[in-house]
Amino acid sequence: MTQDNLCCSEHKRARQVQPGRGGSTIYPMTSPSPPLCDPVPAEPMRIVAQWLKDAWERRQQPNPNAMVLATTSADARPSARVVLCKGLVEEPGYLVFYTNYESQKGEDLAVSPCAAAVMHWDYLHRQVRVTGPVTRSPPAESDAYFASRPWPSRIAAWASKQSRPIASRADLVAAVAAAAERFGTPNPADPPPQGEDFSIARPPHWGGYRLWAESVELWQEGKSRIHDRFSWTRKLVPGAPRGFTPGPWSVARLQP
Ligand SMILES: Cc1cc2nc3c(=O)[nH]c(=O)nc-3n(C[C@H](O)[C@H](O)[C@H](O)COP(=O)(O)O)c2cc1C
Repeated sequence: MTQDNLCCSEHKRARQVQPGRGGSTIYPMTSPSPPLCDPVPAEPMRIVAQWLKDAWERRQQPNPNAMVLATTSADARPSARVVLCKGLVEEPGYLVFYTNYESQKGEDLAVSPCAAAVMHWDYLHRQVRVTGPVTRSPPAESDAYFASRPWPSRIAAWASKQSRPIASRADLVAAVAAAAERFGTPNPADPPPQGEDFSIARPPHWGGYRLWAESVELWQEGKSRIHDRFSWTRKLVPGAPRGFTPGPWSVARLQP
């Protein structure tokens, strides 16, 4: 093969992975959403809810409610992972996610009850950042959400000591089988019977958290990298049990 041929085949290969060219599109090509109106609304949570709704309606990614959640350990080490945003309450303004209270993030939140979350919808050219204090959801709310999950997920919540080491996958599968036996369900590793349900109480180590919005930033891609960024901040005064009384929002446009 001559040098020319080599270049040519490499060129062809490169063309194949170029989005939007040729027969098959690898990445969805989308145009930026319209710019944010200016002045923006005095409070941001309604826009966050709308953006989340837009992402659901577009159905261009399996988990449009996925968010990266950052926490900090007792020795000030940050760590981040993806969780699903399972609720957004515009008033008083918090996001809800569910997890194992004894996981790495659970341990972090016990000593440093603040977090930062980022949602990113690439095809919508939008990013949302939320930071603030974190509280546990009321137990009744966690019970209701846990009960709504498919039974294999409920068994898994009992079986997994999230974030702890385990010797092998076989040990993990055995832990799931043991939990299934304890609750009298089929083994989730076997093909689960359709439509069957089982009563499985919520484990005490599993439940929801509320990330209270103390600061919210919306980022919207603009032409020629002249992006829109708006940042809202407010004071949260500890109030009702496990809650806050929010002060008024103030908003500023930020340079991109
Ligand atoms: C798309 C996606 C969604 C996830 N959703 C959750 C979730 O809602 N809750 C959760 O505890 N872990 C979820 N995970 C797993 C976490 O990213 C992480 O592995 C786990 O929570 C342990 O994190 P930690 O050791 O930092 O506590 C998800 C992972 C992905 C990729």
